Amino acid sequence: METNLTINSTKHRLDLDPRTTLLDALRHHLGLTGSKKGCDHGQCGACTVMVNGRRINACLTLACMHDGDEVTTIEGIGAPGNLSPLQEAFVREDGFQCGYCTPGQICSATAMLEEIAEGWPSHVTDDLEGKPALTTDEISERMSGNLCRCAAYPNVVEAIRKAAGESA
Ligand code: FES
Ligand code: FES
Repeated sequence: METNLTINSTKHRLDLDPRTTLLDALRHHLGLTGSKKGCDHGQCGACTVMVNGRRINACLTLACMHDGDEVTTIEGIGAPGNLSPLQEAFVREDGFQCGYCTPGQICSATAMLEEIAEGWPSHVTDDLEGKPALTTDEISERMSGNLCRCAAYPNVVEAIRKAAGESA
C-alpha cells in the first residue's frame, strides 16, 4: 500500500503491507533506529515520535494511517554536534543510564513542553487558567507514559526543567 510520509523534513514514498506499524516503517523500512521498540504494546513510550507536532506511540499506529503526515523522530530533533536544548540537558543532568528509553523521553518531552506552552492542563494541574508551572509533579505526570527501567526519573525531570529554563 503506497504511503507518503514526510519524516524529519524529508519526503518518503513507501510501499508497505497495510499492517505495518509506524514504528516498524521507521526502523525496518527506513533505517531510522533511534525510535526504540520496548514493549510494542503502548506501555513503555520508548517508541514515542511526533506526528504533526503531537507525541504518539509509534508502535500503536499503522503507517498507512499517516499518509501525508509529518513525522519527527529523535534523528530530526538533533544530532551529534548539534544537540537540541533538551538533549544537551539530558547529557548535563545525567538523564539516562543505558539510554534505551532516552529517544522516546526526549521526543515526548519536546512535545510536552509545547503542550505546556499552549496552556494544556494535565491531571495534576491546579490552576486551569494560566500556563502550568513546571513542578516535579507536573513533569512526572506528563511524562508518565515514558518508562525507564534504569529509573533515571529524578534526573529526567531535572533535565526537562533545566531545558525549559526553570530552576528547582
Ligand atoms: S514500544 Fe511503543 S509503547 Fe512500548
Ligand atoms: S536509561 Fe535505561 S531505560 Fe531509561
